[in-house]
Parts: sequence; C-alpha cells; structure tokens
Amino acid sequence: MVFPRRPQWLIQVLLALLTFLSVLQTTIAASASTPEDLTALETASNKSLLWGPYRPNLYFGIRPRIPKSLLLGLMWARVDEYAGVQENFRHTCEQHNSIHGYGWDTYDTRRGGEQTIHDEGNGIDLKTKFVKIPNAGDDGGHWGVRVSGTPRPGFPSDVKTNILFYAALEGLGRLEPVGDDVEEEKGWRGDVVIEGEAGGLGSFEIKVMGDEMGSSNNHPEHGHPSGETRRLDRTFLKSFQLPAEALWQNLPILFAHLKSSIDKLMEEYGKDNLPPPEQLFVIENEGGPGNMHLVQKVFEGAFEFDVLFSSGSAPEPMTSEQLTDGIKANKKEFENRFKSVLKPQAPFDKPKYQQFSESLLSNLMGGIGYFYGDSKVDRSGADEYLEENEEFWTETEEARGKNEVSTEGPTELFTSIPSRPFFPRGFLWDEGFHLMPIIDWDTDLTLDIIKSWFSLIDDDGWIAREQILGPEARSKVPAEFQVQYPHYANPPTLFITLQAFVDKLRKGSSDSSSIYLSNPEAATKYLRDLYPLLKRHYAWFRRTQAGDIKSYDREAFSTKEGYRWRGRTPAHILTSGLDDYPRAQPPHPGELHVDALSWVGTMAIALKDIASFLNEDDEVAEFAGHETAIRRNVDDLHWADESGIYCDATVDQYDESAHVCHKGYISLFPFLTGVMDLADKEKVGKVLDLIGDDAELWSEHGIRSLSRRDALYGTGENYWKSPVWVNMNYLVVVRLLDIATSPTSPHKTRATRLYTDLRKNLVNTVLKSWQDTGFAWEQYNPETGEGQRTQHFTGWTSLVVKIMAMPDLSGAGVRDEL
Ligand SMILES: *[C@@H]1O[C@H](CO)[C@@H](O)[C@H](O)[C@H]1NC(C)=O
Repeated sequence: MVFPRRPQWLIQVLLALLTFLSVLQTTIAASASTPEDLTALETASNKSLLWGPYRPNLYFGIRPRIPKSLLLGLMWARVDEYAGVQENFRHTCEQHNSIHGYGWDTYDTRRGGEQTIHDEGNGIDLKTKFVKIPNAGDDGGHWGVRVSGTPRPGFPSDVKTNILFYAALEGLGRLEPVGDDVEEEKGWRGDVVIEGEAGGLGSFEIKVMGDEMGSSNNHPEHGHPSGETRRLDRTFLKSFQLPAEALWQNLPILFAHLKSSIDKLMEEYGKDNLPPPEQLFVIENEGGPGNMHLVQKVFEGAFEFDVLFSSGSAPEPMTSEQLTDGIKANKKEFENRFKSVLKPQAPFDKPKYQQFSESLLSNLMGGIGYFYGDSKVDRSGADEYLEENEEFWTETEEARGKNEVSTEGPTELFTSIPSRPFFPRGFLWDEGFHLMPIIDWDTDLTLDIIKSWFSLIDDDGWIAREQILGPEARSKVPAEFQVQYPHYANPPTLFITLQAFVDKLRKGSSDSSSIYLSNPEAATKYLRDLYPLLKRHYAWFRRTQAGDIKSYDREAFSTKEGYRWRGRTPAHILTSGLDDYPRAQPPHPGELHVDALSWVGTMAIALKDIASFLNEDDEVAEFAGHETAIRRNVDDLHWADESGIYCDATVDQYDESAHVCHKGYISLFPFLTGVMDLADKEKVGKVLDLIGDDAELWSEHGIRSLSRRDALYGTGENYWKSPVWVNMNYLVVVRLLDIATSPTSPHKTRATRLYTDLRKNLVNTVLKSWQDTGFAWEQYNPETGEGQRTQHFTGWTSLVVKIMAMPDLSGAGVRDEL
C-alpha cells in the first residue's frame, strides 16, 4: 500500500486544510511580485491542467497531458439478451440514433464537472461526475469520478448493465492490482486497487470502489451453476499485457477476451445450458502485472460507484468524501463564474438560456483533448504545388498521386476539438473560434492552447491545418485525407484570439484568475516568446499564398497585397475553410481571393498590436504599412462597383482582371475581419443591404452562406452554398455591434436593428434544435432552422454562448429611431 493508515480525525483535519487552501488559491489575486512568484504561479496553473477528459473521442476517457502515459476510460452495455450485446457496447462517441444527447452540463478544465449520457439504446441515463484536486501533492494531484446510472423512462427498473472501467499504460512504468481481495475466479468483494508508477506521474493508486455500506446498488442473481464461481455482486478484474499500439482499442480487446471466455463456458455447460446473458458476458477474474486492466461490474437497476485516483506525492489518498464535496463545490463555483463572465443578456436573461449556454460552454471545454503521435506529410515540394499553370489542378492531383508521404513526429497538441464523434482532433481554422468563449472563462488555458499550436510550426512557418496525430486519430480519417501539405494554408483564426487577448490587456482587464492578465511581465514574456513564431507564420502565409497582381495590369495601391489559396480544384478550396463556396470557373493561376487577403489583414493588425505591446516600434511601423496596403488593396482589387460588394478576382479570356461575384460570406470577409473601413458610409451601407435583405443573405435562422439570388444557391454538396454557419454569423454580430455602438456611424440605427434581430434568430435556432434533438449541429438549414450535418458539433456552434453574453441594444435601437 502506498498510504500508511492514519487516524480518521487527522485525515479530516488535513482534508479541511486542503479545501481551505484550494479556496484561498483561487480567491487571492494571481498577481506576483517577483519572477520566482511568477514561476510558482505558472507551475500551479500548469499542474491544474494535467488531468482531464482529454480523450474527447470517448464518452468518458481520462488521460494526463503526458505522452505515452495512462489511458483510462469507461465502457458499458445492457446485457439482458444474448443477441446485440456487441452493438450495445459504448466506448467511442458515435453518431447514433440510440443516444439521445450526451455531454457536459457543467465543466471547468481546472476543476472538473458533470456529464450526462442519455443512452436510449441501453435504457439508462449515465452520469460521470469528475473532480480534480490539483493541489494535492507535487504533481497534477488527485481526481475522482462518480459514475451512476438510472434506468430511462419506459425501461424496466431492473435493467441489467454491464460496466467496465479500464486503466492502460502506454509507456514505461508499472501497473498492478494489489490487495488481499484477489480471489481466483470469485471476483473482488471490496475495492479494486491498482497501483502504479509512470513517467511524469510518479507513484499513484487507482481505486475502483466496491459497494459502500448501505449502498442501494443491486446485482443480478441467478441459479445457473456458473454463478458459484462468478457471483455478480463481486467486481471482476482481468489484466492484460499487450503491445502499446493496441492499448486504445479497448473494445476489440474486450470482445476477443469475452469470446474465448464464452467458448470455455460453452464447452463446460453445453450450448443448451449457457449461463444467462448477464453472467455470460463477464470477464475472467485474473489479476496480475500487465499494461491494461479491465474492471467490470454488473448492476441491476440504478447504480453508483466511485473511481479514485491518488497521487503518491500527496500525504493522503483521495476519498469519496472529497469527491462528494468537490462535486458540490465545483457546481457552485461554476455557476458563480458563469454569472460573472458569460451571463446571458436580455432577451436571453432567462433560466432556459442560461442552462443552454452553460452546457454549450461546458461541452466546448469538456471537448479539449491532448493528442500525441506521428503524422503524415508530403514534403516533396513538387513544382506542381505552386499551381502556376492553367489546369494546374490536374497536375497537382498527379503529383499527389506519386504519394511522397513521410511520417513525421511524434508531436503533441492540446486542443479544443470541433465534434467528439466526428472530428475528435485539432483543426487550425476552428480553434480560434473555439477559444473566443474560452478566453473569457480561462485566459491562461486559452494561451496554453495557442502555444501548443505554435509549437507545431516548422522552420518555414507552416502549421498543418488538420492534426491527425497517431493511429487512434487516423482511425477516424479516410487515408486520402490523412496527408498534410506544407504549401496548404488555413484561415489563421488564432490571431483573432490573440487580438482579443491584447484588447483585454489594453483595457486593463481585472480578471484576477489569470496570471497573464494580472501580471504585465507575464503577458510580456508570453507574447515575447510567441512573437517570432507569429511573424514566421505570417511571412510563410504571405509567401506561399501570394497572388499575382503585376502580370495582369491590375491597378492597386500595392503590387504585393493580393493572395490566392493553394490547394484549389474546380469544385473546392478546402484550405480556405469554405470548401465548396463558388469561386472563379475554371480555376486560374491569376486568381485573387478576397478572404485570403482579409485574413492576411487580420494577422497584420494583430501583429501590429502585439508589436506595440512589446514596444517594438520599428515593427509596429512595418505592420502598419502592411495594414494600410491591405486596406487599400481590398478596395482596389476586390470591390466590384457593378455588384456593389467585395468579390474574388480572376483573369478573363482576354487576360484581363475580372471580378467573380457570388454574394455571400466571401463578399463579407473584409467587413468580418476588420480590414474594411467602417467609416466608408457608402460601402458599409451596401454590406448592410446584403446582410439585411431576405432575398439575399438574411433568414429567420441567421445569415446564409450564399445569396438566395445566386444561381448556385443550395446546389451540389450544398455545404457552404446556403446553410447558416455560426462562426461566420458570430463575426457578423461582432461587426454590427461595432457599428451600432460607434458614436459617429450614420448606419447606427440599422446596425442596431440587424444586431438585435440576428442575435435573437441565431440563439433561438441553435436552442430549438438543441431542445428537439439534444445536440448542437455543424450548420443550420436557412429555411427550416434545423440542425444539419455533423451531430454533437459543440465547437464553433458554441459561439452562441458569446452572442448571448453580448449587450442587449434593443432599447437603444428604439430610442434611436424615435
Ligand atoms: C506542464 O506540465 C506538463 C505535463 O506535466 C509538462 O510536460 C510541461 O513541461 C509543463 N509545462 C510547464 C511550462 O511547466
């Protein structure tokens, strides 16, 4: 045993002290007066991020932010029939009809939270209440999870559930069940204890608790002779020694084991005298050293049990009382913080919106994962990838077909993922949006995630847009999409988040929970470390996505500031993020993409502000110069008088520059990214016309991706050709607010009205699908408002959390109009 026994009163005193210290730690201002204080604060902050449900592809999967370390998770199934058990087993999140919603009702990355899984197929509502005690011990501390199940309405109250918790160790170390309770074949009567040691974790103990005294857990009974040696009121443990690469495939491992165990039972009792199903699908009780341990319980009706992880560096192990107290305290703390930083404003100042907003935010943070592994890259740098010839897409396809793919890494990434069942990995274009609600909640966590992304940058300045690290991540991605190309860019949305950080610093945010907001030296150090990487990425983007202004007699303020996404085909520009949005046909090397130029503008403006914070005056001037050139060029190259809006540009049959206008999100980009001059009365008026016209982009459910008047509206894949996307709508709302609150804008009144209506339309649309289906969705149908495509899309759809927290201007609008 790692922990010597101590008198009970001493434990109570120590626990009280720990709780007191934890409260103290979060209430005192996180400001530091010396560099040593700062380091201590940063270390404490880092510790509190060590553990989490960082395997968001699982319904419940825990791991530390350490490569090749412990993997823990839950699997379960209903077992009252022989048939269908395999399909009933849950482990990885899937787009299932039989799960009626799941996710975190509350979640804070540093403390923990509560998740509910409405498992209709298994007739059970499962809860996982996860609590971290990061200040116990010198490392990431303790954690615990209380797992409970309640039969769903319409199912028998004695529904039989088979539930497994597992612990696996990928790297070096030790993992071994201990205790006097190991009884060959009969199962464990009390707690199952697994002791271990691993790099970065030191020694630890994992305890899967048996039924407490007075517990109301019930277990199936039966008269079959196999019950003599395998009583279901016991807990079973089976240890395995497996190749490290297999350790994430927990369900196949379980099935293989069950099959061999069932074969033995068949042999012993015969086909006609098999044990009942709840007895049949029980693992063999064989504990010993190994790198994976399955722990199984079988319940009848409602149940509850705890799993406690104790760090060996703490004086006392984690207890169920601590878990109970933590659950209560965290819930209260979550609600308090929510009210202080993201409280929904009118007309959303009602309990149903608050609960909805809390869930979305919690799912966004509960969807943060830690990934580690190798990745596939084509670094051939083929000439074809410059896309300089006519019909270049046929050449690039051929070059890609040569398949010069190498395996790189391993690398690690800490990231908030777009969707647990469908996109459980890092996406560069999504991340900046994910972090916009998170930065208000936990600025330091946000900065950590940004740092993690920039640690992936290569010497040229490239960051792969989709991070598919290791075999587990690859198992979800078709082979042709696994390879990343170092000439492919993606919208640099992390610069939006960094801009928000700098804006908070400039405003002198009083958020004492953030080290970086309350210590200018810490902020300076962070930005100073990141700044060269930001500049490298910016330079890489400008170089590799450069457009050709000079060859086609284009008249523009600057001959440099024009850009073209690489990776184009006639049907798609996946790299732009707006995959099938209509562009010039056929593709042409002389194209200029208005969104690409706008994104460069976003980077230039953020870099200028960061340089200014760092007192890099020469560079401030340099970025300001770029900014001016971009602002001028966006009008010179992309404003089409004939259409009265911004458009892409291409080259016509006479080799002359021509606009390609498909009104929709692409036409709004200079407005959305802040590179458009909001004082330009006429142009802003036309942008507002387009946004507000229900024959074009306006709908009852948000701003459509493409105008209803466009010939391609709703055609083909119809991915970005009509549906409402919340990320783009969020940017629209932000700019409308800028105009509505500008003291001088002549469009104040109209912007206020559009802002007020759009806020309402978006929030109510996302809420309605949430209520109807139990899920947030990837996009919304502009006609019906129904959620479509990917289910459980709690990535940027969660921006409605921010939209609800934005100010209510409906009163102001009315006053203005009177
Ligand atoms: C934060 O913790 C992780 C995991 O223990 C560790 O790998 C990393 O070096 C730590 N970072 C800092 C800045 O302390």
